[in-house]
Amino acid sequence: MATKIIIDTDPGVDDTIAICMALRSPEVQVLGLTSVFGNVKGEVTAQNALRLVELEGHGDIPVARGSDLPLFSRFEMDGAVVHGEDGMGNTHPPTPRGKVIERTAAQFIVDTVRANPGEMTLLAIGPLTNLALALRLDPGIAGLVKEVVVMGGAAACPGNMTPVAEANIWHDAHAADTVMAAGWPLVLVGLDVTQKTVMSAQFRQELFRADNAAVRFIEKIIPCYVQFADTVYRMDGGIYTHDPSAMAYIIRPDLFSTRSAPVFVETEGRCIGQTVADWQHQWEARPEVKVCLDVDSAGVLALIRERLTR
Ligand code: RIB
Ligand code: CA
Repeated sequence: MATKIIIDTDPGVDDTIAICMALRSPEVQVLGLTSVFGNVKGEVTAQNALRLVELEGHGDIPVARGSDLPLFSRFEMDGAVVHGEDGMGNTHPPTPRGKVIERTAAQFIVDTVRANPGEMTLLAIGPLTNLALALRLDPGIAGLVKEVVVMGGAAACPGNMTPVAEANIWHDAHAADTVMAAGWPLVLVGLDVTQKTVMSAQFRQELFRADNAAVRFIEKIIPCYVQFADTVYRMDGGIYTHDPSAMAYIIRPDLFSTRSAPVFVETEGRCIGQTVADWQHQWEARPEVKVCLDVDSAGVLALIRERLTR
């Protein structure tokens, strides 16, 4: 039986790859996308989410628009240099045909979890504001989800937004701390593993030999993301597979090794957005989460290629 998922996303170039993977994987049934601010503004990520479900004929999948702002702080858009002003590598794809549904992202998450008790996996690949709002709306969903898989955090490695904070967590540290403390079965797919899996220029060259709408779209939007990685990380054409790694976890968790611990998120000061795994349980008690610390990178890349070229 396919795993029912909602993808909470701020598309975004790597979000695009993860969403295309999901829509091409028989192991998962995508019940909806919920959009959130992050890589670009909220109204743009909502439009991009609509474009992505329409890309290969999944326009029937509902898209619910979520928050344009973090819970408490202001939104400092910083993703344009990475993902383009339009979140799609400055390719300005055509306006989507569909519209977002009336319900908010938080309400859609609550309703869908309540309608599928014990069966829903939430894949969060953007800031965690919508998930925190859903918990505020209905705390009981924490006991009703099958799993929450978050692309975010840096438990034992430097951050990518600041020396200690990863972007999704940094964008809304308060929301992230709420999500980490909720007591639902949560897996953190952080920079500890996503930066170990690099999609090389050669890998992409082979990938782009496939002839389908998803690969064509990814080929078109990816140069901006590659340029950023070259400029900032000197990656010689390689790119990190942040969101696709979180999607890969849902399909093949065996490719990852995890260690459980309570995770706290710093919510103020210069270390805001830092994810601290309390391995020795030295701080106050809170539910543990599974923290991914290692990965079979070749396995993840093979899965990405297999799904995008099938
Ligand atoms: O730190 C990487 C994360 O931030 C990814 O989800 C990427 O899309 C950006 O949102
Ligand atoms: Ca993302």
